[in-house]
Amino acid sequence: MNVNAVILAGGWGERLWPVSGPERPKPLLPLGGGGRSLLRACYDRVAPLVGAQGKVYLVTDGRLAPRMRATLDLPKEQVFVEPEGRNTAPAIGLAAACLASIDPGSVMLVLPADHLVQDEPKFREILRGAVAAAGKGYLVTLGVQPTFPSTGYGYIQRGEKLMEVEGQTVFQVARFMEKPDQEAAQRYVASGEFSWNAGIFAWRVERILEEIRRHVAGLGELLDDLSYEELLAPHSEELVRRWRDVTPISIDYGVMEKASKVAMLPAEVGWSDVGDWHAVWETIREGGTEVAVRGRHVGHDTTRSLVWTSPGKVVATLGVEDAIVVDTPDALLVADLGRAQEVRGVAKEARPAPPDWDELRGHDAAGMLSVVQSFPSQCREALARGRKLDAPQELAGFRRVVCTGMGGSGITGDLLARLLSVEVRPHRSYELPEGIDEHTLLVGMSYSGNTEETLSAFRQAVDKTPRAMAVTTGGELGRLCHERDIPWIQVPAGLQPRAALGYLLLSPLPWFDQWGALRHEVGAAIDMLQSMSEELAPANPGNPAQALAERLHRRVPLVYAGSEFTSVAAFRWKTQINENAKQPAFWGELPELCHNEIVGYELTQEVLPGACVVFLRSAFDHPRVQARVEILKEVLERRGLRYEEVWARGEDAAGQLLSLMYFGDWTSAYLALGNRVDPSPVQPIEELKDKLRRWGNG
Ligand code: PA5
Repeated sequence: MNVNAVILAGGWGERLWPVSGPERPKPLLPLGGGGRSLLRACYDRVAPLVGAQGKVYLVTDGRLAPRMRATLDLPKEQVFVEPEGRNTAPAIGLAAACLASIDPGSVMLVLPADHLVQDEPKFREILRGAVAAAGKGYLVTLGVQPTFPSTGYGYIQRGEKLMEVEGQTVFQVARFMEKPDQEAAQRYVASGEFSWNAGIFAWRVERILEEIRRHVAGLGELLDDLSYEELLAPHSEELVRRWRDVTPISIDYGVMEKASKVAMLPAEVGWSDVGDWHAVWETIREGGTEVAVRGRHVGHDTTRSLVWTSPGKVVATLGVEDAIVVDTPDALLVADLGRAQEVRGVAKEARPAPPDWDELRGHDAAGMLSVVQSFPSQCREALARGRKLDAPQELAGFRRVVCTGMGGSGITGDLLARLLSVEVRPHRSYELPEGIDEHTLLVGMSYSGNTEETLSAFRQAVDKTPRAMAVTTGGELGRLCHERDIPWIQVPAGLQPRAALGYLLLSPLPWFDQWGALRHEVGAAIDMLQSMSEELAPANPGNPAQALAERLHRRVPLVYAGSEFTSVAAFRWKTQINENAKQPAFWGELPELCHNEIVGYELTQEVLPGACVVFLRSAFDHPRVQARVEILKEVLERRGLRYEEVWARGEDAAGQLLSLMYFGDWTSAYLALGNRVDPSPVQPIEELKDKLRRWGNG
């Protein structure tokens, strides 16, 4: 008879806040011994039991599935995904129904992903007995020998002895008891007849399905109606729709208390559900010392305490007794060791409330959100303006373009490099750009027209080529062009340079088109940006850009592009987050970063605990890069690092690029509001420019 194991990895472990949370659920915490997560330890514990014929499966919800799967390196078909967590009966039912197709006659072991067992060999011996009893048609549960009168667990009362199998004694279950009060718990433990209900089970697949059909209204029908394929596809419409109506109920209440032929095997194996900080204290204090420490701790006169620090941080305690001190980058918990059960309550209150975007909008005094919203109109207007101007014919015939500009204007050069069919060299410094000759079209790009690096480079370069032009609102660059009879396109003033990207980039585009140097049309892309503008606007609360900004709040984004082509979008994200949200952000490009940055993950938790990778993904990225991203996600998972993904939209390369940039513009503006800063002003840039002006010319 084959044995398959099903690990339930649902909830996130509220009582282990602030280390656990929806983003870092308890099964993934490194409490499994030897640096392993609880989930990994559970897998290692049970894998020897299933042998070569059986497999270890996982049930989890859609949000957690990729991370859980990455932790165990499981193939997709070994992960059963619930559309959403509905307690243990539906989770077990889903797994049983799938196993009924995969391995119908088998015995199914069920284990929670987040428990610890000290004596693993003995645990496996007991489970072998449980499998044998299950083979005889019993629904078998393990009863853990209580070590104290816990009010946190349900209890099982032992009945008649049923049999001896595999060297284990199997008892009938007299009854299941819900979590008792202190007095009842003491009675149970004193009687010697009661065990803790550890939620570890064994049964034949068809036996549990039969009992589910009998006792859990609705669930049995759903499992019978859906095919294996529908149950396995986490987003199958039918499953998602019908799952909503499934009653959330535990397997104990829903089935075990009512079923026939229920047996239990006593287990004295050093079991812990590591359910709260007190349990963690007991688990990790080495050699029974009184102070359990994870991380760096300096303790003077400290007794019976748990100290858990963030990587790279030290916690010092002096004259402390019976304390829980848990420090994370987001929150610090200081509690009485005896009140660990109550952490759930404080965690609820301490978790940040969802942002009130309407209220936060008050920070956008200068109206950046409206400017971002009107970006597609700005693009259309810029194209229309450009089309009205005749391209100066004396500039035609160039072989390359050098575009000199800084910051919000300078990025235009990078974008032109992607949209034009000739070589474009973006240039960002004072010096004469290299390689300027009579075949070069020089483009001076400065929104204000007064940026000194741009002016310096433009002045030097303009003497080296007969072909020069500029795009600016005016300023010194406009004056210079006027004086030297250089064609220039005047764009509307009154915006932040980075918010005028549509004007700067698209006004000259019709000229390039007329010169036969345009590779990518952008008309369709602008229509797509228009629909994004509606979707991501504040009028659509909870939209994807807001949701991402909420998740990135107080994090340091590491924005990764999937190709050289989209790398400029990652760069734009970085600069927009800097200038709008007033916070650090960094960017990188695949596949290159797989050859360096990836090594830096080793100490990221310590030196940059708030880091969060944002993958900018495009369907046009090279398939090997797509594979790299999937592997990188697993690497990040294993290191406990966060990541997000933003997929490009649009039919063509230009659309994909612009959509990624536009999503970043929105996200950075919302991040600003979350940071409670006005996205528009860039005072440090102004101050620096001002100081330089007063510095003189050296
Ligand atoms: O966003 C900004 O304000 C800056 O990055 C500017 O664009 C940069 O300082 C260059 O100024 P300008 O765009 O006026 O040439």
